[in-house]
Formats: sequence, structure tokens, C-alpha cells
Amino acid sequence: MEAEKDTKLLNLNSGLLIYIVATLIVAKVISVFLISKPRKHLPPVVKAWPPVVGGLIRFLKGPILMLREEYPKLGSVFTLNLFHKNITFLIGPEVSAHFFKASESDLSQQEVYQFNVPTFGPGVVFDVDYSVRQEQFRFFTEALRVTKLKGYVDQMVVEAEEYFSKWGDSGEVDLKYELEHLIILTASRCLLGREVRDQLFDDVSALFHDLDNGMLPISVLFPYLPIPAHRRRDKARKKLAEIFARIISTRKSTGKSGNDMLQCFIDSKYKDGRPTTEAEVTGLLIAALFAGQHTSSITSTWTGAYLLRHKEYLSAVVDEQKQLLEKHGDKVDHDILAEMDVLYRSIKEALRLHPPLIMLLRSSHSDFSVKSREGKEFDIPKGHIVATSPAFANRLSHIYKNPDIYDPNRFAVGREEDKVAGAFSYISFGGGRHGCLGEPFAYLQIKAIWSHLLRNFELELISPFPEIDWNAMVVGVKGNVMVRYKRKKLSVN
Ligand code: HEM
Ligand SMILES: *[C@@H]1O[C@H](CO)[C@@H](O)[C@H](O)[C@H]1NC(C)=O
Repeated sequence: MEAEKDTKLLNLNSGLLIYIVATLIVAKVISVFLISKPRKHLPPVVKAWPPVVGGLIRFLKGPILMLREEYPKLGSVFTLNLFHKNITFLIGPEVSAHFFKASESDLSQQEVYQFNVPTFGPGVVFDVDYSVRQEQFRFFTEALRVTKLKGYVDQMVVEAEEYFSKWGDSGEVDLKYELEHLIILTASRCLLGREVRDQLFDDVSALFHDLDNGMLPISVLFPYLPIPAHRRRDKARKKLAEIFARIISTRKSTGKSGNDMLQCFIDSKYKDGRPTTEAEVTGLLIAALFAGQHTSSITSTWTGAYLLRHKEYLSAVVDEQKQLLEKHGDKVDHDILAEMDVLYRSIKEALRLHPPLIMLLRSSHSDFSVKSREGKEFDIPKGHIVATSPAFANRLSHIYKNPDIYDPNRFAVGREEDKVAGAFSYISFGGGRHGCLGEPFAYLQIKAIWSHLLRNFELELISPFPEIDWNAMVVGVKGNVMVRYKRKKLSVN
């Protein structure tokens, strides 16, 4: 009886002991998780030599080349040490949602896109606080609404007709040069307004040319370096500001208005009722031209190169034009352009293979973690630059079948490869919070040009298929794209 009691007591005691030990362990575990800092799992780091500057050298030698080499080794999330900064790459839709959706206070554009300030001018976009910038992006959104786009399209069509009426009955042209010029003319009319298009076109395009040449790779790091290109840029921007100040005050004093982005910006008001200043209107127009001009002209050239290279896709877009001719006659407007699905997919596919903006950047102001596609959890410390790459991510083979092949049908109903893999699989226009506001405008412009060409000419690519010009700030087409044309109206049989 006694002995039994003893063992019970013993059991009780050892039970108490286990309880105490267990409590201590739990307390320790809790303290590890809550009190002391959790251990950080930093992403793998790109190997580069020599130390300190090796990473920068690899980046400058070609960011896409670096990604092609490192992605298979390191996976979807990794860091490159630059000597003054770390860049963490988030590659693919599985890991880039935070990049596209994060708030400006977590991932901001202002620091990384600061180099645009001397080009766009003071008081706009990356020179102002996010609250003001957001309102200015609202002005863009309003200027690019469908009701406005309808008016712009009519002007795009007129510009294309006028431009190509100057071609002969047959001949050879550099398609790249031709489309660049047509798009400058169209952008002038729709964005900058009639005054510039009709009276000041040569002056204004020369000034824009100086602005353009003032944005060099070195300008990204040292935007105010006192070099001749930067001095010409600054002079050109001042002259543009004067020209637009005159146009704006004339419009205001005569009560004349225009169906263009210029007028939208003049009429825009901040939440507190303040109207835009002349300097702000000028800056926003410059920003619009920089966002939309090279990007669209490069895309229209790639589209042409691929269609002329691949006869089966060329005849598909030609057939679509025939059907529309049959349905609507030779009229082209916003709604008819919207029916050109085959042409739309052909442009979209050219843009998948050749996004002109190859690298998108943000500056990180708070720690975040991301689960890689390979299933590992990584912590990205604040202070990193965070990057993703349309040029690389648009060709991931787990999203796109035969990713290096031009195949517009991958976007057709039934396949829709960009949708199957979820949001942020197709990022030529970025996406999420800062997705391109000019996407519909760009498609309308490129469709207006190509539907005109397809309906009025037979075309043949006579130079070798063009290569990519990786050295340009807006990555485009290298060299000439020579095309032989013969005037021939598309007939409905
Ligand atoms: C094929 C033509 C175009 C391409 C490939 C393109 C591409 C892009 C990309 C990738 C971004 C996102 C940048 C980032 O996330 O850091 C962007 C933003 C933007 N784009 Fe475009 N773009 C095109 C045409 C245009 C046009 C024609 C306009 C205006 C007329 C325009 C206006 C803008 C604006 C205002 C933003 C900033 C949006 C924001 O930050 O909230 N784009 N574009
Ligand atoms: C970059 O990351 C490395 C670890 O990969 C770290 O040692 C270094 O201090 C970081 N540099 C900066 C400037 O944050």
C-alpha cells in the first residue's frame, strides 16, 4: 500500500518535472520566434569577379545575359551585389506579385526613375511626391479614356493615309525609319496638338531629338553630369517650355481648344481645385512622348518584320482585313480597330518577344519575404533595389510553349498561355499598380498603321531578319529593315 503510494508520488513528481521542462522548452521556442530576431534567409547571390565591382560589371555587360546565365543556377529569386546597392530579381509570375502590387511606401519608383527629372522638367512625375504624382497619373488616365481615344483614332487614320500617300507605286524603304517618322507625326497631332503638328513640327521634333539624345546610359547614374549631351537636353527642354507656354496661353486667351492630350492637361485640375501650370502641362506632355513614342514605333517595326517573315501569319491578318472590308467598307475607326483580333495578337506576340522596356525597377522601403517558385522562403531586406525583367520573364518556358518562336496563336481562345499561368505572366506593359496607362493608345496606333499598310500594299522583307539593339535605353531594332512595296488595294473577293 505504502509502496504503491510512493510510486504514485514519484509518478506525480516526474510528471511535474516533465511539465516544468516542457514549459521551459516551449518558453524558449516562443522566445526564439518572438523575442530574438528570426534568422534571415537571404536570396542566393550572383557570383561575380572581381569583388566590389564584379556585380556592376556583369550588370553593365548586359542584364539579360546575366539573367540567362543565373536563372537556371539560382532560380526565380536572387540578388546581385552592386558596389553601392543590392538588386534583388524577382523573375516570373510566381514571385513578382509583390513587385507589381506593393504600395508606393513599400516599393517606390521615385528614386530609381529619378534620372528622368531633368528631361521631363520640374514639378512633374518623379520630381513630385507620390500624392501629387498620383493625381498627375489621373490626368493621364482621363486623357486616355475611350471617349478621347475615339477622337485620336480618327487623327491616326488621317496621318497614316497622308504619310503613305507619299510613297510611290513601288519602291524600297527602311520600314524602321518610315514607322518612326509616322509615329512622331501621329503623336504630335494626338498628344501635342494641331499647332505643333501644323506649324512647329520641325522645330519641336528637333528639340525632342535633343531631349532624346540627352538620355544616355550614363545619365541613369549621373543625370546632371556636365556633358554636351546634357547641356543640349537642358536647353531643348527650356525652349520646349517656352513654345508650349505660348501655345497654352493662346488657347486660353482665344478660347480655342483641341481634341488632344494637350487640351486634357490644360483642363486638368488637382483635388484642391488648382489648375495645372504651363510648366506642368509641358512636363506631362514630354513624359507622354517619352513613354509612348519609341515603345510604339519599335513595336510596329517588330510586328512588320515578323508578319513579313511568316507568310502564314501574314495571310491570317490579311484575311481579317478582307472580312472587315466586307463588313464595314474601307472605313476605319476606333470600334473597327477593336475588331482586329488577329492583328492584335500579332502585335502582342511581337511585343512579348521584344518588350522595349527590358527592366523594371523599384526601391524597397520595408522588409518583405517571398516564396520562390522552387518553394524556398526568402527575406528581402529594405534598402534593396527590386527588379523584374519583361525581356526575360516573357520567355519563360514553363509559361510559354517554345518561348523563342513567334506564334500569335498562343494568345487565341483555347490556349491563352499568358492567362493560364495567372497574372503577371505577360509584362511588356508592366502591370498592377503602375501598369501602362497608354496600352490601348499604343495598340490603336499600331493597328491603324498596319491595317492601312495591309489594305494598300504588298510588302516583302528584303533585308535579313533584324537583330536586337541591346544598347539603346529603349531596346529596339538594330540597323535598317528594308522592305520592297507595291501599291495594291486589297480587294474583297
Ligand atoms: C508599345 C508601347 C508601350 C509599351 C511597351 C509600354 C510599356 C510600359 C511599361 C512596362 C510600364 C510600366 C513601368 C514600370 O512598371 O516601372 C509603362 C508605364 C506607363 N506608360 Fe507605357 N508603354 C507603351 C506605350 C505608352 C503610351 C503610348 C503612353 C501614353 C501616351 C504610355 C504611358 C505610360 C504611363 C503614363 C505609365 C506610368 C504608369 C504608372 O506608373 O502608374 N505608354 N509603360
Ligand atoms: C548587400 O548584400 C550583402 C549580402 O549579400 C551584404 O553583405 C551587403 O552589406 C549588402 N550591401 C548593401 C549596400 O546593402
